Amino acid sequence: MSSADGLASELAAIAGRDHVLVDPELTASYETDWTRRFTGRARLVVRPADTAETAAVVRACAAAGAPIVPQGGNTGLVGGSVPRGGEVVLSLVRLRDLEPVDRLAAQVTAGAGVSIVEIQAHAREAGLDYPVDLASRESATVGGTIATNAGGMRVARYGPTRAQVVGIEAVLADGQVVSRLSGLTKDNTGYDLPGLIAGSEGTLAVVTRARLRLVPRVDARATALLGMASTAAAVELAAKLRERLQSVDAMEAFFEEGMALVCAHTGLSRPFAGPQACYFLVECAAREDPAAELAAALDGAAGVVESAFARDPAQRRALWRYREAHTESINAAGVPHKLDVTLPSARLARFESEVRQRLAAAVPEARPVLFGHVGDGNLHVNVLGVGPDDDRADDAVLRLVAELGGSISAEHGVGVAKVPWLHLTRSSADITAMRRIKDALDPQGILNPGVIFPATPIRAGG
Ligand code: MLT
Ligand code: ZN
Repeated sequence: MSSADGLASELAAIAGRDHVLVDPELTASYETDWTRRFTGRARLVVRPADTAETAAVVRACAAAGAPIVPQGGNTGLVGGSVPRGGEVVLSLVRLRDLEPVDRLAAQVTAGAGVSIVEIQAHAREAGLDYPVDLASRESATVGGTIATNAGGMRVARYGPTRAQVVGIEAVLADGQVVSRLSGLTKDNTGYDLPGLIAGSEGTLAVVTRARLRLVPRVDARATALLGMASTAAAVELAAKLRERLQSVDAMEAFFEEGMALVCAHTGLSRPFAGPQACYFLVECAAREDPAAELAAALDGAAGVVESAFARDPAQRRALWRYREAHTESINAAGVPHKLDVTLPSARLARFESEVRQRLAAAVPEARPVLFGHVGDGNLHVNVLGVGPDDDRADDAVLRLVAELGGSISAEHGVGVAKVPWLHLTRSSADITAMRRIKDALDPQGILNPGVIFPATPIRAGG
């Protein structure tokens, strides 16, 4: 029996034979992420049922010196949720406990494998809401979105996932369990481990449960899709709407190349007669119908060339479809390089035009498709027409981001995709501090090696 078989038997004794997968036909869906750019063979996939089994799995892997890739809904976009070659994929999808909503605290405790759409529905039944919302909501999980500090559409209003995390239960690299699920909003007792683990991309601990903040449910919504004269006008309008309206819930932008791809892929007809320099989608949400205040704020707004307004759910969904169908339409056209970046708002418009010029100069065959969350300065630069291992486009885009004072990762994380460029927007002191934290919490280096930092050889267990 090989050592791989030995570990598989040990893990089968913990999680059950049906939940240790070694057959390539069964492991395949765990081995490629949403982009299809990142793929690798797993040593095996293990799916524990609860925290105790997860801790036992981590202990067994640590004793065997077997590196682990924690995985939620596998909707990651930077190669951080799939094996690079030979790791154990630790899938948390069976950790599906969802406790009753605590209305007095406006919080809920959820297992790592609960999907975002499930926690939203659960909160809404109690008259509250979970404010993280993203296009992958059906598959993305509580654990995965905490590990990546996922952002999405409502960050400008509510903050990213980390801002919703009141507490975490997580398995450390040696199998110990840290549990901070009391839900105390004020609890300054030492280091903020939940805040540190959120966004650590599975490199510091494996999230098994979380205590999450809920917000008041606001059901009255109004949505407008606008054709803008320029990206600068869209950025200006975003600032103006934020100043005037408390109900602004989402402000998104996309461009002609994305609109063309989406219409070709989905069969949707174009919303306006002609192409627009920039498309701006704004949604307001409040207890009372925000349609009148949104219409008033848009009336005569500078740079608005075309507009479509929607109040009823079907019409609103139709407008959102132009934005939300970007990811699938891009994927249908090829395997993209996905460069998720933030810029200072004052430089967003400049970046949008300069990045196209830089890409054209660096990689003439590159086809950029940009879209993103203009309300918080986050653009997704998708690049088609470039081979999976060809880094020229990544280099050109990320260097420009750094020159303009932005961040090379807004909400998708560093993963393996951006490791070579981490130094562009993190100083060597920053990187040293992060490495020391990693080494302290995972001295063997078994948790998601190769993510955020270059992989180092696995060290023997203590
Ligand atoms: C989105 O904003 O739709 C997500 O970040 C997914 C993506 O970038 O493809
Ligand atoms: Zn996004």
